[in-house]
Amino acid sequence: MTKPSSREPDHRPFAFVLFGGTGDLAMRKILPALYAAHRDGLLAPDGRIVSVAQTALDTSSYLRWVDEHVKPYIPGTAIDDSVWRSFRERIAYVALDASQPDAFSLLSDTLGAGRGRRIFYLATGPALFVPICRALASVGLTEGSRVVLEKPLGYDLDSSNAINDAVGQIFNEDQIYRIDHYLGKEAVQNLLALRFGNSLFEPLWRREWVESIQITVAEELGVEGRGNFYDQTGALRDMVQNHLLQLLSIIAMEPPQSMEADAVRDEKLRVLRALKPLLGEEIRQSVVRGQYHAGAIKDTTVCAYHAESGVRQGSTTETFVALKVEVENWRWAGVPFFLRTGKRLAGRIAEIVVNFKPVPHSALGAVALRPGSNRLTIRLQPNESIRLSALAKQPGMGMTLQGVHLDLAFDQFFQQDRMEAYQRLLLDVIAGRLALFVRRDEQEAAWRWVAPIIEDWATQGSLPKPYASGTWGPAAASALLARHNTCWQEEEN
Ligand code: BG6
Repeated sequence: MTKPSSREPDHRPFAFVLFGGTGDLAMRKILPALYAAHRDGLLAPDGRIVSVAQTALDTSSYLRWVDEHVKPYIPGTAIDDSVWRSFRERIAYVALDASQPDAFSLLSDTLGAGRGRRIFYLATGPALFVPICRALASVGLTEGSRVVLEKPLGYDLDSSNAINDAVGQIFNEDQIYRIDHYLGKEAVQNLLALRFGNSLFEPLWRREWVESIQITVAEELGVEGRGNFYDQTGALRDMVQNHLLQLLSIIAMEPPQSMEADAVRDEKLRVLRALKPLLGEEIRQSVVRGQYHAGAIKDTTVCAYHAESGVRQGSTTETFVALKVEVENWRWAGVPFFLRTGKRLAGRIAEIVVNFKPVPHSALGAVALRPGSNRLTIRLQPNESIRLSALAKQPGMGMTLQGVHLDLAFDQFFQQDRMEAYQRLLLDVIAGRLALFVRRDEQEAAWRWVAPIIEDWATQGSLPKPYASGTWGPAAASALLARHNTCWQEEEN
């Protein structure tokens, strides 16, 4: 059967089973995204949502929890009461302890037989992924079903392999949807459109013309009540291993033959496998770890990472990482990719900056030889935009060059609402579209690449460098770029 294309409503019945139904992710992202899809008429009338969690509730008390906790996270305009009521009618609640396989017959009874596609969304800790999959298999619920695995999928290469092996014995790879919500962002989709829908950039998108590339995902938020989880994770595992390496692979990949899931994922995989391994001394040279101290974000004083609840005393977990990465292939050899992410930074910005080489000879003065005069800035969030920076002549006598910009602000150009990442991804799971989900080999390649860094930090007892909240991270992150004769975009004068 042909799958409906991206925004086409899919009206085949489904059961969406949400493990972790009372959790943070369900509350902030998954249920709001399902509501938005329902409101926009993109869910089949026969689509049911079955929330599962350990808390002893019945459906009506769970619905009261949903009213109270989920509504505040619904983006966009005011909630229409009748639409909200009809959304609630889709929802049932099953209380069960996911670590107790015997309890799963209750779920099986609730789902009944032959009611369309089944999607099991595991918004739980990774320790429950395998027990849940095994229990689903034991009550005969896995055949023809899809399973969605939230990040973090494991803690390192070995633990993620162990989960993937065990889940892979129960579900085929094409039944497994590994979420990286960055892949669902409109702006990230747009990267594909920009690169592969235009002939303009492709000839320049290579080592002959590109001097360096920066990828920044900066957050103003701290650990937001997730201190316990975050302290065992850190920025390298939480952001670099997945979101940043995915962005890098989309920026650096070869044009895929089609937009079929495996055509795109094969090309991303090639990039991940071509990442130059960082080993030993190179890690000290090319990676900066930081941890936030007290400071101010937009005039509000915020505490140090150490003072966040759930964070161990004397913790050396990093809340900031900057790295210099190289892609060892014909297109990119020798071009540095600078990646950076952190919490409690000076702004919430996700952007990619492609710095082109200056002219080889300037008849127009030294300014034309300055690195960074020609650059493409792709702002992913907030306020998605593309800016092309170039040089132009200042009006009047003489020939003085000055930087100018060609700007495209997407929200001014397109009046349509943007679809939230989770909404797009959930609709894709329901419709069976795998292109925006991470294949096992991609995930493995990413873990393999970060593994030596994790190991080096552990064995060398590396300490994160302090930075004040509300700044752009430790000074060492600027020094990393200065050594390559460049600077982070916001440091430009
Ligand atoms: C999540 C991380 O994957 O991404 C969080 O676990 C982080 O720590 C979040 O805050 C950032 O996502 P976004 O969409 O707000 O940029």
